[in-house]
Formats: sequence, structure tokens, C-alpha cells
Amino acid sequence: KSIKVFAPASVSNVGPGFDMMGFALHTPGDEVTVKLTDRKEIRIVKISGDNGYLPYEIEKNTTTGAMLSLLKKYRINAGMDVFIHKKMGIGSGLGSSAASAVAGVFALNELLELRLSRYELLEHALKGEFIASRSIHADNVAPCLYGGFVLIRSYNPIDIIKIDYPDDLYCSIVYPNIEIKTSEARKLISKNVSMKKAIAQAGNASALIAGLITADYDLIGRSIVDYFAEPKRAALIPCYDDVRNAALEKGAINCNITGSGPSMFAFSRTESDARSIARAMLKAVKSAGFDGKTYVSKI
Ligand code: HSE
Repeated sequence: KSIKVFAPASVSNVGPGFDMMGFALHTPGDEVTVKLTDRKEIRIVKISGDNGYLPYEIEKNTTTGAMLSLLKKYRINAGMDVFIHKKMGIGSGLGSSAASAVAGVFALNELLELRLSRYELLEHALKGEFIASRSIHADNVAPCLYGGFVLIRSYNPIDIIKIDYPDDLYCSIVYPNIEIKTSEARKLISKNVSMKKAIAQAGNASALIAGLITADYDLIGRSIVDYFAEPKRAALIPCYDDVRNAALEKGAINCNITGSGPSMFAFSRTESDARSIARAMLKAVKSAGFDGKTYVSKI
């Protein structure tokens, strides 16, 4: 018996929602295949698409690390062969490690017919994500697992809220060929913020949700502002200003960093706009001397 699972990339932070907002994309995503065996051990048979970057040790790999956490909690002893096919860059800011972790626990749940809820799976996917990023943040894992646009209202206890969004919202992504480790990019962010910044951030975050629910594109656009992470992290992306200006010139609703970068996302309302924005973003990346890739997805 075996199962093949697709887990999507995700955009996290979405401007003002540092560690508390994210949405899933339709593409790219990771593919994980899990086969039941009678060996009573978990084995990673093959990892592809990772340029040899990911570990085969099951405790150190986000997919199997998440699976082990689930198996331990429910005291399940089963043998499995795992095949991981990465279809997005590692360290891209698109929730690559989260997707791998989610794929692992989702596959287990289906394969062993455990009937666990997404909420019950979340805890284990987060443990997998922790292996890669050394921090507990759910803004990639939760959208990847739940789909759509997700708000994490609280971490203790974890409270996931699905947010409605307009039907015609497209996302253009550019992934410049620069590696940024989430664990390093998190160290740049100050542990304390002023009351003034906290108020401004909360205002934008709340308004972004209001804009999404009421399909107020102008409000969505002016709410995608981040006072916590972006001011520090923009410096890690040498083509940041060029990409942002290129997207805005092409009429994007707004443009910001996805997760800890280096990928950047922009919103627009039609697929053809999203494609032309993505092309302009890539041109800006190339003019700055980097190589890059683009993705376009409805959210
Ligand atoms: N919210 C996290 C961060 C996402 O910005 O560090 C990392 O992918």
C-alpha cells in the first residue's frame, strides 16, 4: 500500500502578518510518496530535486521528523519507505520545509487511516518545520495544511482561523537565486518593538483581513506594509527595491517579501496581469545581476 501526496508552497507574513498570516499557492509544491513495508522502520529511499542538500537521517529530515513525532504520540509501529521530490527551492521563502513536513504527516494520516483532524496533524508538521528553521512558526505549515488564507490568532494554544478572500486574487512570485536561511533571517528581527510600531502593525494586519473579506483591493494594497521584519530583511535581497518598483509599475496591488525571503510576491486581479508582473519582477532580478524563477498562482 502506498500514497503520493502533493503539498503546496505558501506565502507567509503577507506584509503585516509576521508569524501570523500565510496563504497556500497552487504551484509550486513538493511531492512525497510513502509506502508501507514490513521492515518496521522508516527509511528515506530517495530525495530528488534538492541538489543533495537534504539529509537522509530520519530525525534530521523535516518530512520524516514530522512523521516520527506523529508515530510516537500515537504509539504506532510501522515500516515505511519514503520518497521526497522537492519542486521548490530550499531557503526560498516559499515554505519549502513546511511543505515537506505537511506532506509527511498528511500521507501518514491517509495511509494508516488514522482519521486525525488537520488540527491534530498541525502539531507534528510544526515539529518537522522546527527541524529546519529552529523556531515554531505556523504561517507556512498552517496554510499548507488547511489551504487558502490562514490567520494564526494565537500560538498558545494554537488557534487557526481561515480567512475568506476574493475569487480574483492572483499572486506573482519571483524567486531570486539568493539563499536566505530562515534561522539567520530571524536573528535580524528585534525581540522588542515600540508601542508605536505595534499599533501600526496591528492596524495594517487587521485592515488586510478586512480588505480580504470585503474584496477591497485598495485596502489590501495599502495594508501590505511591514514594520517588523521587512525593514531589516530587505537588505538581504539586493534587488528588493527594483523588484518592488517593477511590480508596482505594472499595476500590482502591492508587493512584499514572502516569509524570510528572498522570494517576493505581488498581488493582482487577473492571470494575465499576474504573468506580466512576474515577468517584470524577473527582469528586475536579472538586471540586478541575479538569476531567478517565477511562479504565478491564483490564491
Ligand atoms: N514568519 C516566518 C519568518 C516565516 O518570517 O521568519 C519563515 O518562512
